[in-house]
Amino acid sequence: MGYNLSNLLYLITIVTFILALRFLSNPAHARRGNQVGAIGMLLAIVVTWIKTGGTSWWALVLGMAIGGGFGAVAARRVKMTAMPQMVALFNGVGGGAAALISLAELHRILPDPGRPKVDIGLAIVLSGLIGAISFAGSMVAFAKLQELIGGRPITYVGQQFVNAALFLAIAVAGAALVAGVQDEWLLWVLTAGAAVFGVLFVLPIGGADMPVVISLLNAFTGLAVALGGFELESNVLIVSGMLVGASGTLLTLMMGRAMNRSITNVLFGAFGQVSASAAAVAAGDGGGSVRSATAEDIAVMLAYAHKVVFVPGYGLAVAQAQHDVRQLADLLEEKGVEVSYAIHPVAGRMPGHMNVLLAEANVPYPQLKEMDEANPEFARTDVAVVVGANDVVNPDARNNQGSPIYGMPILNVDDAQTVVVLKRSMNPGFAGIENPLFYNPKTVMLFGDAKESIVKLAQDVKTL
Ligand code: TAP
Repeated sequence: MGYNLSNLLYLITIVTFILALRFLSNPAHARRGNQVGAIGMLLAIVVTWIKTGGTSWWALVLGMAIGGGFGAVAARRVKMTAMPQMVALFNGVGGGAAALISLAELHRILPDPGRPKVDIGLAIVLSGLIGAISFAGSMVAFAKLQELIGGRPITYVGQQFVNAALFLAIAVAGAALVAGVQDEWLLWVLTAGAAVFGVLFVLPIGGADMPVVISLLNAFTGLAVALGGFELESNVLIVSGMLVGASGTLLTLMMGRAMNRSITNVLFGAFGQVSASAAAVAAGDGGGSVRSATAEDIAVMLAYAHKVVFVPGYGLAVAQAQHDVRQLADLLEEKGVEVSYAIHPVAGRMPGHMNVLLAEANVPYPQLKEMDEANPEFARTDVAVVVGANDVVNPDARNNQGSPIYGMPILNVDDAQTVVVLKRSMNPGFAGIENPLFYNPKTVMLFGDAKESIVKLAQDVKTL
């Protein structure tokens, strides 16, 4: 295949990746975004395969069969609630691939005297370093989310010192390589050291912060892949790597902002460790009694309300109650009730979690209200129905300076006339802290699995 033709086809690939991101930014077109991106990726693989003259075609086919097979099965089988760990796994593999590229590239060019030149040497060192950190860090994130290891931050005395010393040693090895030391083993040592650093870096971060960490490591992977593109003189790798790097960075910052936490606090604050003691304090503060009600009583409340706002959270995803919530909302609308959904940016366990679930249930988009739009509406809401949400409606974030989530913007459901909370028990949410909302005299609890409770409510509303 000619140079110009392959470059043109690569350019088309790049355009598909940019279009894919554009489509992915809106839940209505996200599926199309995925398809466009997949077609672009297939085109890139085919062009690369033809360009290299079909050498080792069997290796490519075997690699695609293993990777594609695993991806297809995982995408079908993995539950929505386990999506963050799947993203961690896939992201880690990307980082590992970038590190392997740098090892292979150095192996290829080392026999030439005076090689690698400084620029390529720097790219090789950085992609090996960043790729290995991303690989190992993502594996720890996966293990924490999959509960293979505990989610609590693992800390010890002198931890930051150990991490800094290790990083310094890796940096010295990298500098030696860039300065022209022609030793392949040095890159192996650097890559292995970076992998250990990746593990040590993620261990002290609490499970609650894993989605942010995964997003940051995703940005790392993008950067490592772009550097790999630089080594291989592949524009398509450079551009796609930078797209991943830039979107991962933006997402990390946006998630941090939505939780009102700096990235430094997420990475070095060992969040989740403090929460046990804070929970005890909050529990003491909570005091008061909890009111629970029957589904029949709540159904009456809902059917005769003017305005009802559903507030979905992680429990909605666990219970897979999105379709039933939609059906209940339809019934209420038939009775003339104004219905909307208030979406907190970090409700659930991954960005856009609630939007994806509600889109799956074909909830009309105009009914989905982002936090800034939803909050002023609660004052004129008769009933706010909290479906498996906890931290994102915790008034301590507003009122209790001692709370670990103090300052995080929340959905002010307690401005509504009545708050109905659907959950199974008094257990805390992801941050592991008490929620005074449950003790608010305006609040009634409906205990049980969210799906079962919603189905019951819908049955009762029908009879009214
Ligand atoms: P959480 O605070 O985690 O609360 C979820 C609640 O759902 C739990 O209290 C649980 O109570 C209930 N639940 C679980 N399974 C249920 C079921 N089958 N039926 C009914 N209820 C069920 O969720 P949230 O309010 O969505 O907040 C998300 C948390 O994740 C925040 O702390 C956020 O900072 C963190 N986080 C999210 C992200 C993203 S991007 N989404 C990123 C980083 C961190 P029971 O066990 O009593 O039922």
